[in-house]
Amino acid sequence: MMSAEKAPLFEISLNDLASYLEIPVSELREDLKEKYSYNSTSISLPPEIVRQIFSKRGIVYPKKVISVQMLKGGVAKTTTVLNIGLRAAMYGARVLFIDLDQQANLTYSLGVESEDLPVWLDIVEKKHTVEQCVISLESHVDLIPSNLNNSVLDRVLLNSNRNWAQAIQAPLNIIKNNYDLILIDTAPALSATNTAVTVASEIVLLPLNPDKFSWLGLQKNLQELEEIKKDFGLNFATQILLTKFDAREKFSHEILQKCSQHYGSNLISSYIRTSSEVKNTIRTQKTLFHGRSTAKDDYDLVTREIMGLNQKSQDKGELNELTR
Ligand SMILES: Nc1ncnc2c1ncn2[C@@H]1O[C@H](COP(=O)(O)OP(=O)(O)O)[C@@H](O)[C@H]1O
Ligand SMILES: [Mg+2]
Repeated sequence: MMSAEKAPLFEISLNDLASYLEIPVSELREDLKEKYSYNSTSISLPPEIVRQIFSKRGIVYPKKVISVQMLKGGVAKTTTVLNIGLRAAMYGARVLFIDLDQQANLTYSLGVESEDLPVWLDIVEKKHTVEQCVISLESHVDLIPSNLNNSVLDRVLLNSNRNWAQAIQAPLNIIKNNYDLILIDTAPALSATNTAVTVASEIVLLPLNPDKFSWLGLQKNLQELEEIKKDFGLNFATQILLTKFDAREKFSHEILQKCSQHYGSNLISSYIRTSSEVKNTIRTQKTLFHGRSTAKDDYDLVTREIMGLNQKSQDKGELNELTR
């Protein structure tokens, strides 16, 4: 396993964590000193410590494999993978990012130069094992990068004699247990690769933008997913995430209403508002979560919803126990 430069980018601010735990920051600091012998004056906490705090509270991270798909480009697939993954890692989850888009936006966003690195194609062609493709970004945050070589993945899969539909799932099974959350970013296409991704997914997350083409794309994508479900006898869940919601635009409200009528519980209850703060890169040494913005709050809520981290009121007793 290769190691990229270690960054405090995956740390959650003490303010954010205290607010999540519904306790004053001073209390959190005290607690860290007393119970975790953590004497840092730092304003943020590494995932390891957050994980310990959560584990003491009895919070388990549900294990999930989520792919983000949509045949239309520019709908915020990569942004969604990046920010849910970052936030889940900040909450202490063990996260694996998998980039399967040959454009490698996710890889680039995570600060990795991938031209000479092995990618999923190399796993399929048996040139590298899946473990050899994993890059460590932080102690519990990994990436399987992408680069242009993956642009022939589709053809290689279709020409292969082996069971191409297993091309993602089978290698993934080898390393799956190392992670709580596996997030797969995909190219905008209905392709053999994306079918294999769907076969490996427990949840297919579909970002939807408030525009007509996006709505039509969603219908097409959902039909295709139904076909795949039938053909392969699968039972993955589909979830729709409304992104680039603009409160000043009528169509944003219309599509929100239409979605909740049509898709009910398949629609993620938080939606992502447009925000000039959305950055598709951590190369600036700052993530969305190091500033303040509507998109930060929105992705925080979506991450909690997906990771099941919203039950804290039920854990109050335990929390009080911990913070007393
Ligand atoms: N909530 C948002 N507000 C403003 N811009 C956004 C938001 N989400 C994504 N973007 C921008 O939209 C563009 C496309 O996003 P991206 O995640 O690359 O889409 P995809 O991966 O589906 O092609 C990027 O420039 C990104 O910064
Ligand atoms: Mg993308």
